[in-house]
Amino acid sequence: METERRNPTLLSLIALSLLAIASAEVFFEERFTDGWESRWVKSDWKKDENVAGEWNYTSGKWHGDADDKGIQTSEDYRFYAISAEYPEFSNKDKTLVFQFSVKHEQKLDCGGGYMKLLGSGIDQKKFGGDTPYSIMFGPDICGYSTKKVHAILTYNETNHLIKKDVPCETDQLTHVYTFILRPDATYSILIDNEEKRTGSLYSDWDLLPPKEIKDPEAKKPEDWDDKEYIPDPEDTRPEGYDDIPKEIPDPDAKKPEDWDDEEDGEWTTPTMANPEYKGPWKQKKIKNPNYKGKWKAPMIANPDFKDDPNIYVFPSLKYVGIELWQVKSGTLFDNVLICDDPEYAKELAEETWGKHKDAEKTAFDEAEKNEAEESKDDPIDSDAEDADDDADDDDDVDDTKDADEAAHDEL
Ligand SMILES: *[C@@H]1O[C@H](CO)[C@@H](O)[C@H](O)[C@H]1NC(C)=O
Ligand SMILES: *[C@@H]1O[C@H](CO)[C@@H](O)[C@H](O)[C@H]1NC(C)=O
Repeated sequence: METERRNPTLLSLIALSLLAIASAEVFFEERFTDGWESRWVKSDWKKDENVAGEWNYTSGKWHGDADDKGIQTSEDYRFYAISAEYPEFSNKDKTLVFQFSVKHEQKLDCGGGYMKLLGSGIDQKKFGGDTPYSIMFGPDICGYSTKKVHAILTYNETNHLIKKDVPCETDQLTHVYTFILRPDATYSILIDNEEKRTGSLYSDWDLLPPKEIKDPEAKKPEDWDDKEYIPDPEDTRPEGYDDIPKEIPDPDAKKPEDWDDEEDGEWTTPTMANPEYKGPWKQKKIKNPNYKGKWKAPMIANPDFKDDPNIYVFPSLKYVGIELWQVKSGTLFDNVLICDDPEYAKELAEETWGKHKDAEKTAFDEAEKNEAEESKDDPIDSDAEDADDDADDDDDVDDTKDADEAAHDEL
């Protein structure tokens, strides 16, 4: 009887969750299947300077499914700009979910892996670094200091960076980045379906002036005692303390027998440190019984603060774009999603990245092993042709760095 009763409940739960997913509103979804080129517009940005990079339509060097392709930056020291259009919408009263996957197959030392949402009124052919955007989100790596997830919101025509540090993934595998913005002005940042940060737009960005400020009129009261310690009035200088000399004549010293006053000059007794001498007198300090703590100006309501209940609203969202500068290419984007339902986004991530991640890891490990074996065979050859081989030079640098890191890890 028990089980019979439980089953219908379970079924209706499943039905409910399917319903929730079925009712998700998807504004844009791109899995980079055939025909993607008709949906994306490559910008002419940087073309006349010959520094616009080409995209490679590929599943990359390692992957969990050769047929699951994305677009990958394919030339070093290049700018990349590409965008796609979707029906314009506003996220007012809606949850906004922005998600994509990114894989840095190169060992990325400096470059972005972020994407942008943009409003109406842009020319996709001219999309570039100066094109105003609404949201910029995703990983950014440069050197050892920058390894973070950007979450930049444009408010009142100003770009505001998130104030919290959100570390990004730094390996050479696919990761899914998700940004969720809710009508209650809260947000979440997920990596691989795991929440890494959540909070409020009010506290984690400086979109509005602060709600409260220090009262600029307030002054520290005259009688405010902010000395934590005071000299101990009970502690007085012992009588004669200052008369104790630092040095005294050495009582054990004797004028040598063969001292000749005529030749050696007048003999003087050598001095020694006086054991009675205790240094200059210092009065003891005690806790000040009248100590009131550090004075702080009282906080008052900021007259410049005006709440904006639409702080989370982007009235026009119409394009999604990638705009990057890359020193080393090899960043592969895939599975771009803009929708109103975190659950739908989660399912999509599971169905794509989640399904293939183990096979991708195996393929990557295999590729690493092969590369290691190739470079083991290399030295004999490279001696003969060392002069013109840039790649070998790079390898040397990398090897030194790896050795340093290994040494560091051992500490
Ligand atoms: C595109 O990527 C594939 C897989 O990594 C690679 O074999 C091919 O050489 C790349 N093509 C270009 C033009 O970079
Ligand atoms: C918008 O930005 C301008 C210029 O920075 C500033 O003067 C104005 O007070 C801002 N408005 C709001 C509502 O923050």
